[in-house]
Amino acid sequence: CGIVGYIGTQQAAPLLVEGLTRLEHRGYDSAGLAVLGSSGLRVAKQAGRVRDLADGLPKRFGGKIGIGHTRWATHGPANDVNAHPHTDAAARVAVVHNGIIDNASALRAELADDGVVLVSDTDTEVLAHLVARSSAKTLEQRVAEALGRVEGTYGIAVAHADFPDRLVVARNGSPLIVGVGDHEMHVASDLAALVRYTTTVAHLDDGEMATVTAGGFTTYRLDATGLSATDRRASQVDVDPASYDAGEHDSFMHKEILEQPARAEAVLRGRLDERFGTGHLGGLNLDARELRAIRRVKILGCGSAYYVGQMGASLLEELARIPADAEAASEFRYRNPIVEPDTLYVAVSQSGETIDTLLAVQEIQRKGGRVIGLVNVVGSAIARQVDGGIYLHAGPEVAVASTKALTNMYLAFAMLAVQLGRVRDLSIADGKRLIAGLTRIPEQIEQVLATEAELAVVAKRLAEAESLFFIGRVRGFPVAREGAQKFKEVSYRHAEAYQTSELKHGPLALISPDVPTVAIVPDDELVERNVAALHEIAARGGPLVVVTHEGVALGDLDGTLAGRIDVPRNERELDPILMTVPLQVLAYHAAQELGHDIDKPRNLAKSVTVE
Ligand code: G6P
Repeated sequence: CGIVGYIGTQQAAPLLVEGLTRLEHRGYDSAGLAVLGSSGLRVAKQAGRVRDLADGLPKRFGGKIGIGHTRWATHGPANDVNAHPHTDAAARVAVVHNGIIDNASALRAELADDGVVLVSDTDTEVLAHLVARSSAKTLEQRVAEALGRVEGTYGIAVAHADFPDRLVVARNGSPLIVGVGDHEMHVASDLAALVRYTTTVAHLDDGEMATVTAGGFTTYRLDATGLSATDRRASQVDVDPASYDAGEHDSFMHKEILEQPARAEAVLRGRLDERFGTGHLGGLNLDARELRAIRRVKILGCGSAYYVGQMGASLLEELARIPADAEAASEFRYRNPIVEPDTLYVAVSQSGETIDTLLAVQEIQRKGGRVIGLVNVVGSAIARQVDGGIYLHAGPEVAVASTKALTNMYLAFAMLAVQLGRVRDLSIADGKRLIAGLTRIPEQIEQVLATEAELAVVAKRLAEAESLFFIGRVRGFPVAREGAQKFKEVSYRHAEAYQTSELKHGPLALISPDVPTVAIVPDDELVERNVAALHEIAARGGPLVVVTHEGVALGDLDGTLAGRIDVPRNERELDPILMTVPLQVLAYHAAQELGHDIDKPRNLAKSVTVE
């Protein structure tokens, strides 16, 4: 979900709408605004997109203070009533909220017993009532009192008709940023909403609250004893506002796919030691002795970050010969994991906010484990929580389907694997070979992207199918998983990944002329086995798209393929990333062919900050 707020000299509503539009990738099933003007507090909210909300706004929706929200439904379906802001019965208090209030049902029951009529199914509504019922003197104290009753996570912004000169915001587990303008102040849950107005910002900490007036802001720490002043200052963030614009592209996903060569260079920059054939990852906070003491690597992430973790595990096993595996962070922390002191834990996350990943990190640390992060968003919750890590330098990623962040996660794993390998038994020659290979990657991604027109033709064919398989084995299997993920996310076609070796143990039963298979067939030690499997599919009439290398002989299959995609050759350990990029392009063009909203696939959100 996304939060915005404004207080200053201009009309709030248009600015809030603009901010919400920038946050729509965070949730887009409903949207709403509350504006405080001369006639009091007015609220407009509804299910649907920000555009629908803006189109339906009454002409006279005046006021220079306001808050807004774009929602990804958790408590209760996406309908008008459940949309934020939520208010008390007299509509004097309006609240927007990200996160989850764990004791909402107890608080709802208590309010209901007291005769309060709750109109929505949400947990947030209780906050509006609790603030409204407080008789403390200041708005800050009223909000603090309400938050004192609440267990769970929140980023909130509150407007109150009795305090028309201020907004109060607070954070506990869900990001909240205050932006300083010229005689005006902005509030948002994500920089994306602020950068066109200001790059002077203050990030609240967990447990912090702020009063925001047109002239500035003051911060407090919220604890059992009440509020104590803190002296958080705003500072300049180094972002290019243009990186939050799709520019000439029809979607952020397309823009972000094409940015990959430049972003890949950025993650590699200064981190490759060509002379000694190793990585140079200063942020790990681990010296050679500590690196040598690692006996196992456990990688945790969700969605694409989990699949790239599997690619990372195979790099680590191959290059550093350390047992490594990846697991969905969401599962890991619920099975009372065994945390060992000589295991290195790696948390992978673009946003650095995914709650399942964050809670897994905390669980590991609680049991004494050491965690490093592969994170894109600087200063995000996971980045702050871990004991060291590698920033991804992918730049802001807006499309829900991850592309450039995933590529940089892969490259970060490759550098980590080489560095770990080189303090164990990876030879200098192999180290140099891989470092040279990594240097070639940005340019080779460029070469893959240069074939976009041909990939688009293949994608059109695939888009016709209701159901597809993506197959690969060993290094290629996570590539297939990520390929299927990307394809299903944006095309809504059923796409299933399988190990090529496992096909004949089940899924072959589904192969037919209506079910195409996208096969990952690098020219590696498994190429013959892979080609044999292709024949088994072809013999059952299954259409084939093969992602492979030039020169790989497919025999009599060649004339019958629905597509052949030759990617540039690199070191075989690094094949996975060059084979992932064309799959992104296929997914994008399939979704475009089907006319879907590529950046905002149905039911999904860019970062899932609730369990
Ligand atoms: C959500 C997104 C996925 C993403 C996953 C992890 O589910 O829809 O595209 O891969 O979260 O996000 P993170 O920010 O932790 O990488």
